[in-house]
Amino acid sequence: MDQTQQLAQLHAYTYEKLSHDHTGHDMAHIERVVKMARTLNEKLGGNSFVVQAAALLHDVVDEKLFTDIDQAKASVIAQMQALEVSQSEQDHIMEIISKMSFSHSLAGKQELSLEGQIVQDADWLDAIGAIGIARAIYYGARHKEKLYDPAMPPRKELDKAAYRDLSNETIINHFYEKLFKIKDMLNTAEAKAIAKERHELMLSYVTAFKADW
Ligand code: ADP
Ligand code: NI
Repeated sequence: MDQTQQLAQLHAYTYEKLSHDHTGHDMAHIERVVKMARTLNEKLGGNSFVVQAAALLHDVVDEKLFTDIDQAKASVIAQMQALEVSQSEQDHIMEIISKMSFSHSLAGKQELSLEGQIVQDADWLDAIGAIGIARAIYYGARHKEKLYDPAMPPRKELDKAAYRDLSNETIINHFYEKLFKIKDMLNTAEAKAIAKERHELMLSYVTAFKADW
């Protein structure tokens, strides 16, 4: 099986795992992340197969989506094994997707390979700008968050327990807690350049939102 076929099979695997998700981790998100990761990698010259495979698989071991993470990881490994992905590429892909999630990075900055940095940047870029605004509202509505509460001071520091306690969260607060920080957290200069306009759009959106409120 060549790498194009392996990637097509991994796409089908992720599709099966995420097809029922309505929290913004849908297949369209995955496909945007793959496309962005590929674009970044064209400039940065990492291993293209690892970048694309990790982008495809980055959400199938997310603790917010799957309760049994060890089982989720074992399933991904079994799938790659069945597709005869090389052992070194399997190890690299598993390392990236395990370390990558935002919640992980709360536990301290994770050292990522170039390929990991690219996929993480592509994932973060999808959380900001016009699509990022829509995803925050979509996710917040799904979790019964309030839109906004002017009495609630913006909680700028994201701590893991508070992040999980969505009863005390508003969608607008999520911008302060996470989305406005992303531009400085990105790994690569290429991603930072793309983030600039998206960041400004979010700033003017939240300013307009508060004025309208
Ligand atoms: P990642 O894909 O990096 O793991 P998350 O799973 O935390 O990111 O978030 C998925 C999407 O939902 C992102 O667009 C994110 O901004 C949004 N989101 C996450 N948590 C909240 C929240 N508490 N309120 C509103 N939107 C959120
Ligand atoms: Ni993602």
